[in-house]
Amino acid sequence: MATATTAAMGTVSRGAYAQGAGASGAAAKLGSDAPSIMPVSLKVNGVQRDLAVDTRTTLLDALREHLHLTGTKKGCDHGQCGACTVIVDGRRINSCLTLAVMHGGDDVITIEGLGTPEHMHPMQTAFVKHDGYQCGYCTPGQICSAVAVLGEIKAGIPSHVTDDLTAEPQLTNAELRERMSGNICRCGAYSNIVEAISEVAGRPA
Ligand code: FES
Ligand code: FES
Repeated sequence: MATATTAAMGTVSRGAYAQGAGASGAAAKLGSDAPSIMPVSLKVNGVQRDLAVDTRTTLLDALREHLHLTGTKKGCDHGQCGACTVIVDGRRINSCLTLAVMHGGDDVITIEGLGTPEHMHPMQTAFVKHDGYQCGYCTPGQICSAVAVLGEIKAGIPSHVTDDLTAEPQLTNAELRERMSGNICRCGAYSNIVEAISEVAGRPA
């Protein structure tokens, strides 16, 4: 996110600099030479994908508009709802907050890569079993996030509510709720979502 912000600020400052080109022709040249379309190659759900995208294209838009992987949802487009969550190099991120050109060589997993209707991921099966959704709009992001959350706990990564930072994080209700707090469900399916994640984690909800 910091890198995305830096990239965005870089664009703004370049533009502002170029506007003052009366003082510097070199500055104007810098602005006009900035590439607007760039190639980027990334692995999406195990398949190498080569794209040429506008440098301002978010990873979310690259997935949805260029690769037509519409399972990943656009909710707020501002990093506030978690509907766009995907897993990049094993870590969950909000794909609306990062530029596609920043992910050359990265390994991206979307909901389509986790499972299919015929061969669902255990987390997808648990969401169905526990009724972890109503309209389903937040669900792909919830499931990608939930899969990554269990990986984070297994890796010993603490959260805001972890009491003892030197001990292994526990699979408590509070830990799951805190770690899933970036994924908003407007239908309020939260308790069912926690039940689904708990089942996959092998703990009572
Ligand atoms: Fe990315 Fe809401 S669409 S966080
Ligand atoms: Fe409708 Fe979560 S199931 S927003």
